[in-house]
Amino acid sequence: MSINILNSNKNDVKDAESLKQLEFIEQAKEKVAALEKNLGRKPTACVVTFGCQMNARDSEKLLAILKLAGYEEVETEDADFVIYNTCTVRDNADQRVYGRLGQCSNFKKKNPHMKIAICGCLMQEQSAVEKIQKSYRFVDLIFGTHNIYKFAELLNTTLDSDRMIIDIWKETDKIVEDLPVMRKYPFKSGVNIMFGCDNFCTYCIVPYVRGRERSRSPKDIIRECEKLAADGVKEVMLLGQNVNSYGFDFEEGDSNKITFAELLKMVCEVEGIERVRFMTPHPKDFSDDVIDVIAANPKIARHIHLPLQAGNNEILRRMNRKYTKEQFIDLAMKIRERIPDVAITTDIIVGFPGESAADVDDTIDVIKQVKFDNAFTFIYSKRTGTPAASMPDQVPEEEVKVNFDKLLKVVQDTAKEQAEKLQGRTERVLVEGVNEHDAALLTGRMSNNTLVHFPGDEALIGSFVDVSLDECHGFYYMGTMR
Ligand code: SAH
Ligand code: SF4
Ligand code: F3S
Repeated sequence: MSINILNSNKNDVKDAESLKQLEFIEQAKEKVAALEKNLGRKPTACVVTFGCQMNARDSEKLLAILKLAGYEEVETEDADFVIYNTCTVRDNADQRVYGRLGQCSNFKKKNPHMKIAICGCLMQEQSAVEKIQKSYRFVDLIFGTHNIYKFAELLNTTLDSDRMIIDIWKETDKIVEDLPVMRKYPFKSGVNIMFGCDNFCTYCIVPYVRGRERSRSPKDIIRECEKLAADGVKEVMLLGQNVNSYGFDFEEGDSNKITFAELLKMVCEVEGIERVRFMTPHPKDFSDDVIDVIAANPKIARHIHLPLQAGNNEILRRMNRKYTKEQFIDLAMKIRERIPDVAITTDIIVGFPGESAADVDDTIDVIKQVKFDNAFTFIYSKRTGTPAASMPDQVPEEEVKVNFDKLLKVVQDTAKEQAEKLQGRTERVLVEGVNEHDAALLTGRMSNNTLVHFPGDEALIGSFVDVSLDECHGFYYMGTMR
């Protein structure tokens, strides 16, 4: 299955800034063609992505531009153009980037034509940019999250220059529509509905590196979904840091001002889109009308990722999460009652400043009551500049580790119990690919996000099939096509 690059043709593009960027791609084409002549082969490019679905979607835009400019996509970093799209949500994300960047310098020593770029959330931190300027002199281009739409322009400048180009913006209120974009998968795609975050949870760096909340207009979102559907996409995932505050930033009386529930309904009406997911809702804004729309609409996936973070009320208050343990449990129970068969997954942080073993027991209590179908568990990571970084009572590492392991065990046991409940059922799955370990098997994803592996033909990739769930293996199933 081939994947088209959308918005690569001037006739499809309305946004003036995007038209300008298409011209920069034309200029870059000439430079890449000259490089091809010089090298005697097609120049290659590699995009390395860290972090969340937002970054993954941004990387699809970067890759589209590199491909249009004439680069061939490769998976390894011994390429002629390498770009790191970074994350800084936890310290280990930062460390991974620096590690990879260090290794990449070895490739550059062997390939004098090589260009190395770095962008994304980590680059919105001044200290990180300074570190690269000082210790990673071989980097050719640094840019941030707010001006990623200018990549075609920056690519040109980089190809013309031997100096390190740095372009970082502090903020933006701009949303550039219709940028060229390609997908990793032909049959599914992320769709940004909003950018930034206004919640300022006290541990979190995202509002500082992604800026204030900006919603895309409903008509731009629907137009993108229609283009994707016309190009063979069957499943979309609506992306935002807090999708239930979609549209809050539009003025009263603006025809764009609709709720997330209304937007969900509109996306479901796009012909050809058969499954709709969204990520991430914030529990504090999860209104009944969203639950109603999901309950009434079988196209919307039976999966809700509802980040808990912590179960103790004092910790939740100091995290600035704006809900209590009791409110969270009520919401989760209401969702389970109104949407039968829904899977609820979550994010949990262990080791927030001042969190005691008894506080972690409150979190464990929520896990047991809500019965999360899965949970991403994180050890608290201190992010400079966030309020929590300067809170007293940072918890010693060994103590966090003990609490973390205890909690993880409950998460795993609960997830297994939940998964086992599906035994013997037949579920409609979207076939996503050939099994990584056994080429005779296909891998499909159920509406509730659980994976199932089953014998089948590669030609089924991208279509929906019914599969019986024969054997539960903890987080996934082995099955048979019906
Ligand atoms: N907007 C989403 C996701 C944000 S980042 C939300 O509100 O949930 C994804 C997850 O990373 C968060 O849910 C949180 O669990 C985790 N996270 C964020 N900052 C962190 C930090 N400083 N230390 C550890 N985990 C963190
Ligand atoms: Fe971070 Fe909170 Fe915003 Fe999520 S809602 S991105 S955790 S500040
Ligand atoms: Fe990371 Fe930025 Fe996403 S910090 S989690 S890539 S918004």
